Amino acid sequence: MNRSKSVHRRTVLQALAGTGVLLTLSPGLLLTGCDGGVKAVESETLGLDSDEYDVELNLHAMPDSVPILPGAPSEVWRYRAELLKGPKNTVSENPDSYLGPTIRLRHGQTVKIHIHNELPEDTTVHWHGLHVPSDVDGQPRLPIRPGEAMTVGFEVLDRAGLFWYHSHAHSEQGGRVGFQSYAGLAGLLIVEDDEEAGLGLPSGDNELLLVLQDRTFAGANELVYLDGGMGAMMDRMHGFLGDRMLVNGVPPATRKVATRPYRIRVLNGSNARIYKLAWSDGRPVTLIGADGGLLREPEDRPYAVLAPAQRLDIWVDLSQSQPGSTLELISDSFQASMMGGMGMMGSNALPLGSRFTLVGLEVAESVEVNEQLPAQLGLQRQKIPVSSTTPIRPFELSPVMMRGFAINGRRFEGTSVADDEKVRLGDTEIWEFWNNTPMPHPMHIHGLQFNILGRRGGNSDSLHQGLVDNGWHDTVLVMPRETVQLAIKFERFDGLFIYHCHNMEHEDAGMMRYFQVQS
Ligand code: C2O
Ligand code: CU
Repeated sequence: MNRSKSVHRRTVLQALAGTGVLLTLSPGLLLTGCDGGVKAVESETLGLDSDEYDVELNLHAMPDSVPILPGAPSEVWRYRAELLKGPKNTVSENPDSYLGPTIRLRHGQTVKIHIHNELPEDTTVHWHGLHVPSDVDGQPRLPIRPGEAMTVGFEVLDRAGLFWYHSHAHSEQGGRVGFQSYAGLAGLLIVEDDEEAGLGLPSGDNELLLVLQDRTFAGANELVYLDGGMGAMMDRMHGFLGDRMLVNGVPPATRKVATRPYRIRVLNGSNARIYKLAWSDGRPVTLIGADGGLLREPEDRPYAVLAPAQRLDIWVDLSQSQPGSTLELISDSFQASMMGGMGMMGSNALPLGSRFTLVGLEVAESVEVNEQLPAQLGLQRQKIPVSSTTPIRPFELSPVMMRGFAINGRRFEGTSVADDEKVRLGDTEIWEFWNNTPMPHPMHIHGLQFNILGRRGGNSDSLHQGLVDNGWHDTVLVMPRETVQLAIKFERFDGLFIYHCHNMEHEDAGMMRYFQVQS
């Protein structure tokens, strides 16, 4: 990167810090972060101590400037990686996007990552969904200071699936996850394994990876996060909604495809927006996987709901499509008024629940392939067994006057853990989230994949037929007034982990807590 270029350009990325102070990144601030590069001496590797790693890479978090819309490029913060060791396809850059490189790992690999913070403020990198030790989980308790580096090591224990990595910084003044992720600090992480490879699902050009994010831009293409005044207060209450869509960091586009099946893997990388995925011709959405990898068998739904941080794996067969025709993956309209008026306030050009296109698939080529959707998919991982004696741990999600939301009456207080937030290593529990608020909350638990057991209560609304509860998840959307139960087993790693709402503005405002796994 040409450092001086980025130092001298006026940087207009704006954000309200947790304190409500308007922070404009000035060249001076950038200088602190960028000048001199990484000065930290190589520290010990956190997490895993191994003589030999299969994969080793440098991951830089840095300011950059990227063309997003026609006209001037936009100032962003983004990840860049260099592969030091491992298979060549481990790192694929997204050169025309602010998105971090897609990192492709295999089950069983040992991985060592040197994270370099070239930003003007603290950051961390969280491997969302991966089963990794507490110290490499990117928790706010282990910040990487500007100009410093941290090395983490872990073994890839998860089965095949689509994961992602993003910032998880939280300072004394409040959370920075919303700002840093919005500025561009996020990327995809794919885990592959033999079971999945054996199914021969569409791959290479026939596997589409889509990262859904909404953004707002000012006149000269500057990214705008929370702008001042009343609007910002409402945004922090509801979560930030951008006024236009970006898919993989650029405006939605049409892709040329052939008459054959495709695998479409979608991440909701938005701060707060919920998507209702559907096909423009009304065909059912065929789901083959969720957060934690493949379902046991495919499922057809009229539409599929994708909440912040969740992933869905979709199969679509275009072999009967007419050459020249275009099928669109859309986010369909839904009633957001059930959700505490989310999206109804202010003047957002793209309110929550509006209908828009995510990607167009233009059938441009006729091919003869005979690839069938397997009737059985991920069978190897057995569901977590529960019984009538499995202990239930209740969590009430409740509003806090003017200050966001609480979990069991508590908000984020550093690493403090209450007695009812301590679990035993090796135990299976039922976690029960009761959403006693008028808004949906995508609840995420770090370090483990869980099974959703069921839902009760809640308002009837236009989304329920699209909630995907089978399979393995790390994030579950708890609808207003609803109670959701999930089965979770605290395996392998003890120590501190986090659970929180993945509406990033809720999280940053304190809807987040540590829990402790005790051995
Ligand atoms: Cu994707 Cu704690 O976050
Ligand atoms: Cu929330």
